[in-house]
Amino acid sequence: MYGWAIPPPKPPTKTPEEFLQERLQKVAELEVRGFLTSPLLKAAMEKVPREDFIPPLYRDYAYLEVPLPLPGEATISCPHSYPLFYEALGLGAGDRFLEVGAGSGYGAALAWEVVGEAGLVVTVEIDPETHAFAWDNLRALGYGRVEVVLGDGSLGYPPRAPYDRICFTAAAPEVPPPLLAQLAPGGHLIGPVGRPHYVQDLVLIIRQDTDKFQRTVVETVAYIPLRGIYGF
Ligand SMILES: C[S@@+](CC[C@H](N)C(=O)[O-])C[C@H]1O[C@@H](n2cnc3c(N)ncnc32)[C@H](O)[C@@H]1O
Repeated sequence: MYGWAIPPPKPPTKTPEEFLQERLQKVAELEVRGFLTSPLLKAAMEKVPREDFIPPLYRDYAYLEVPLPLPGEATISCPHSYPLFYEALGLGAGDRFLEVGAGSGYGAALAWEVVGEAGLVVTVEIDPETHAFAWDNLRALGYGRVEVVLGDGSLGYPPRAPYDRICFTAAAPEVPPPLLAQLAPGGHLIGPVGRPHYVQDLVLIIRQDTDKFQRTVVETVAYIPLRGIYGF
């Protein structure tokens, strides 16, 4: 069993200035540690207030390297996991991006900042309570053009396919076949594959052609299980 120590819930005490300071420090740290190299993603991480995507009782811990509980059966992933996924994915301006597992909406907000007006961000969440949380957060913070879908993201989201970049943010037994089918030729996909409640391989797939997929393992990670048809 692989787990994280979740800090104790407590009312928030930090000011917006303190959060901003912590955010800029975190970005600098992620650069030094080699997780963050893309200028677009760096600007996104400096801009998006991660603390506003976290329930009040955990807000003060926003920039700690721990996943934090969300409404429903969900967590917001730790800060370094976003550049870990998005840099490997090669997320860039104008991309059509699908995220499976909206959680707090933070990952979708970062992606929106990177892909920009010419791109598309669709995020699918299976848990109704978590979906409502992501929806509210994204709208409250001005990301109303992110499409927040309630449903089983292991089936992808065919109405907006194909996608240039896809990520799933919960651990799957194998890469869900519908996600491969909805990946554009030349597209990239990333997500944790392996045992639930343990560690998994962070798998990167590049669709080289219609039926040719190149697969590499980027890192070892620990994610909550994917639910749904192609989940656990
Ligand atoms: C680690 S959290 C995602 C964190 C999120 N990216 C964020 O920025 O807060 C994984 C999420 O995947 C969701 N999930 C699990 N199985 C799913 C499925 N089949 N379809 C859509 N969402 C799913 C969980 O409910 C949870 O919200």
